[in-house]
Amino acid sequence: MATAADVNAMRRAVALAARGLGTTSPNPVVGCVVLDASGHEVGAGWHERAGGPHAEVHALRRAGVLARGGTAYVTLEPCNHTGRTGPCAQALVEAGVARVVYAVADPDPQATGGADTLRAAGVRVESGLLADEAEAGNAAWLTSVRHGRPYIRWKYAATLDGRIAAADGTSRWITSAESRADVHRLRAEADAVIVGSGTARTDDPHLAVRGVDGAVQPLRVVVDSEATAVRPGARVLDDAAPTLIAVAEDADAAHLAGADVVRLPRAASGRGLSVPALLAALHARDIRSALLEGGPTLAGAFAAEGAVDEVVGYLAPVLLGAGPAALADAGITTIADALRLHVTDTARFGPDLRITAVPADRGPGGRPPGPHSTAVPAPTAAKEH
Ligand SMILES: NC(=O)c1ccc[n+]([C@@H]2O[C@H](COP(=O)([O-])OP(=O)(O)OC[C@H]3O[C@@H](n4cnc5c(N)ncnc54)[C@H](OP(=O)(O)O)[C@@H]3O)[C@@H](O)[C@H]2O)c1
Repeated sequence: MATAADVNAMRRAVALAARGLGTTSPNPVVGCVVLDASGHEVGAGWHERAGGPHAEVHALRRAGVLARGGTAYVTLEPCNHTGRTGPCAQALVEAGVARVVYAVADPDPQATGGADTLRAAGVRVESGLLADEAEAGNAAWLTSVRHGRPYIRWKYAATLDGRIAAADGTSRWITSAESRADVHRLRAEADAVIVGSGTARTDDPHLAVRGVDGAVQPLRVVVDSEATAVRPGARVLDDAAPTLIAVAEDADAAHLAGADVVRLPRAASGRGLSVPALLAALHARDIRSALLEGGPTLAGAFAAEGAVDEVVGYLAPVLLGAGPAALADAGITTIADALRLHVTDTARFGPDLRITAVPADRGPGGRPPGPHSTAVPAPTAAKEH
């Protein structure tokens, strides 16, 4: 039975893990807190950068000999494989930790087995504490390992009556500067930012991160089947961030010479490119999470494929009465088939309201939400193309 001290320590580990969002990919985010034998915190850390030390190593270094006989709280099962910093399970054993509590088991076949190594060395091991919170924080990596595709966070900015542009196509700026700044934080957390050819053609978006210290620029992806939307001089082709143009296998992309172009099969529906093929291509490039920034047509195709893991809607107190809706055809024709969501967070940005939700039949990370599922409030942002 977990004590209040156990819960506090693990909650702190989950919060520490979140500090790695955007800089640890393709690795998971992980946090670790070490308490000494009398329950005082003597070490804490998180996995800060891909290729850098794991969370346990940071925390154990800080704790030193004070870890002996203590408890380590880790958001993910300690790894059992030798990376640049050696297996964390072994490091915990060598530090003399008496008990290890972790939140989520490691589903990565290469890294799993840490709990067995700890037990074999006589360490008490417990799992599952605050598993829902730790899952939510690590949703991108867990989705990628479990499903072989990136975690898709679909973001849109709409009026209170659900329009993402006016009837004449103008859409700048529906939401406030505060919301747009928040979108830059969402981009910074993602490995990739995706838009369809309609958005590329209408808005000539830039899609790079601005105004976020230490941000790793995401891969900018334009889904442009016929290779007609991204023309030389397009803002996504500057050198602010890498860019990938996804085109059909038979498209004439001669004018994109020098750009990174991936050729994909067309969708079985006949409209655009195959979404599963796009996701597989991104996964092959180590993309663990992507921010889908629309527009409504491409977002509808992702929703129809069950490839929307999280929705972040910015609602501005504005009415238009006409213009496209946030989501176009998602293959849903009757109310019984509606994609029902579970709201995980609401927040205010200037005059706007941000609503974050996940499919009700799945929790973040691709598992059904637990009875007390509470997502860690994600630092996130609206369109500022
Ligand atoms: N407020 C917001 O949050 C927001 C965000 C984004 C856009 N917008 C607005 O949305 C409008 C553009 O909307 P849109 O729906 O035309 O653009 P879109 O969703 O960006 O692009 C649609 C196009 O994507 C291509 N595509 C590639 N694969 C596809 C697939 N599997 N399924 C469907 N389409 C696929 C298709 O063209 P090809 O096959 O020819 O490539 C399709 O016409 C603009 O007014 C823009 O300002 C608003």
